[in-house]
Amino acid sequence: MSKTPSTAADSTIGNVPWWRDVVVYQIYPRSFADGNGDGMGDLAGVTARLDYLAELGIGAIWFSPFYLSPQADAGYDVADYRQIDPRFGTLEDFDALQERAGELGIRIIVDLVPNHTSDEHEWFRAALAAGPGSPERERYIFRDSDGLPNNWDSMFGGPAWTRVSDLPPEIRGDASDDQWFLHLFDSRQPDLNWDHPDVHAEFVDILQFWAKRGVEGFRVDVAHGLVKAPGLPDQAGHAAMVEGARRPDGPSDTIRLPMFDQDGVHDIYREWRKGLDEVNPNAALIAEAWVEPPSRLALYVRPDEMQQAFNFSYLVAPWNRDALREVITSSKGAMDEVGATTTWVLSNHDVIRHATRLAVGDGSKGPNGIKADDPQPDATLGLRRALAATVQMLALPGSAYIYQGEELGLPEHTSISDEAREDPTFLRTNGEEAGRDGCRVPLPWASQEPAYGFSNGLSDQVWLPQPASFQALAADQQVGVPGSTFELYRRALELRSSYGLGAGTLTWRDDLMAQPDVLAFENSGIVVLQNFGSKPVAVNLTGEVVLASAPATETESSTVLTVPSEGTIWALVQE
Ligand code: BGC
Repeated sequence: MSKTPSTAADSTIGNVPWWRDVVVYQIYPRSFADGNGDGMGDLAGVTARLDYLAELGIGAIWFSPFYLSPQADAGYDVADYRQIDPRFGTLEDFDALQERAGELGIRIIVDLVPNHTSDEHEWFRAALAAGPGSPERERYIFRDSDGLPNNWDSMFGGPAWTRVSDLPPEIRGDASDDQWFLHLFDSRQPDLNWDHPDVHAEFVDILQFWAKRGVEGFRVDVAHGLVKAPGLPDQAGHAAMVEGARRPDGPSDTIRLPMFDQDGVHDIYREWRKGLDEVNPNAALIAEAWVEPPSRLALYVRPDEMQQAFNFSYLVAPWNRDALREVITSSKGAMDEVGATTTWVLSNHDVIRHATRLAVGDGSKGPNGIKADDPQPDATLGLRRALAATVQMLALPGSAYIYQGEELGLPEHTSISDEAREDPTFLRTNGEEAGRDGCRVPLPWASQEPAYGFSNGLSDQVWLPQPASFQALAADQQVGVPGSTFELYRRALELRSSYGLGAGTLTWRDDLMAQPDVLAFENSGIVVLQNFGSKPVAVNLTGEVVLASAPATETESSTVLTVPSEGTIWALVQE
């Protein structure tokens, strides 16, 4: 039953590209494991925990950025794309990690941040120094204007433009002009000008640099944002949409904003695909593109572009049978249309952890976060629903993403003090929005150690405080413990692999969906039943329950299967 490990050399199995059904584990480097006792996670910490990930049964790791960076946006502000930030280690540490991961059959995906650089990137420093009208400024989006050049907002709050003369002296250097520069995110993240040939050449080179080092996938940050509408026109309907536009996910309706999802982005991904093919045709490009509807998202994964796109419609779907069925059908249908695999994801470093979000009830998302004085979610209900959602997700054909700590059932930290918060969203909205820190808290590894073992006993410091609830959820309380969340994930991944669910076919079981709270589908001989209601539901089906997100509350008879309240089961049926 155990997963057959693939090796780094073995890029495809049975001619099915690895990325079509892989389970990817997202590591947020500052919060996974601290190897040197400075209270911040690092690559050595990850290497020391690779056996844990192999035991869990994942096929690849996606690293959020670990590059040289002043950390104005936790590493999504890159100063040098070919260097590891000393906080996280060295290139040698990376090579060692990758080698050990390869031995364990785990592939490496890195984050590529092409929409913007850090203000400490040498190009931006050179642009400031060279002044208005210089070729150096052409690599970014500088404008002369008496007032703001247009009405765009930063996704983190406030205007998307900053004047050079308003920069602090340590950034501005000797520059004294008053040109504006565009930053869709923080003012320390100036947007690159993707009309410039240097920018194109540089990013193909960066992709090849990491692919030559053995990296097999690239998660492309803000993949829908690189090309802006010609002339940078005002955003129509700005006032009404300001709330949605401030989120990194963009607005939820289908109006095309001038800064997102412009048709020109696709030329870039065709160019990248060609560039990567020169080094490794099996290396995958993965779009982080908050784009609606699914048919627009599917354009990013046409055969000559990227290989996967995150399915955020699925992530934000509410706790509701019909909504979920519709989102699974439409997202899968759109991907099938272009021959791409579908991805499934419930949590990441930008959204409220699903063990909390699903108890908030409205599928809420984005950087608004939850503060101590907001209504607090019901942790028990949240975890129960989260496990049901995960067990359903891992039965779907395609590729699935797990965000670090969800395998321990970690909730969002909803009561971080204002002083401890680091997300620029919190700072740029003057605290109006809590931001994303609550899902980025250092993991608990050992319940009785300082910082719950985050620094392996070396320190009690953590860069962001952990809630007391993490103690009982520490890995040492769960690994090998029957009934734990970790063991449920491990078993789900083992069965997913042995039944070939990732490469299977989804068939809706309308005959089992007479009750409005029950979602039912079949994949590779397994019937998956999810109960959204608060009472157990009996289903007229004979079979063996091979996986359940919660213990059955009633005795199962041989002819009737019971789906626990707010739970999901996998049944091997005899029909
Ligand atoms: C990343 C965020 C980041 C933003 C700017 C997003 O989509 O996932 O964490 O703040 O891009 O790089």
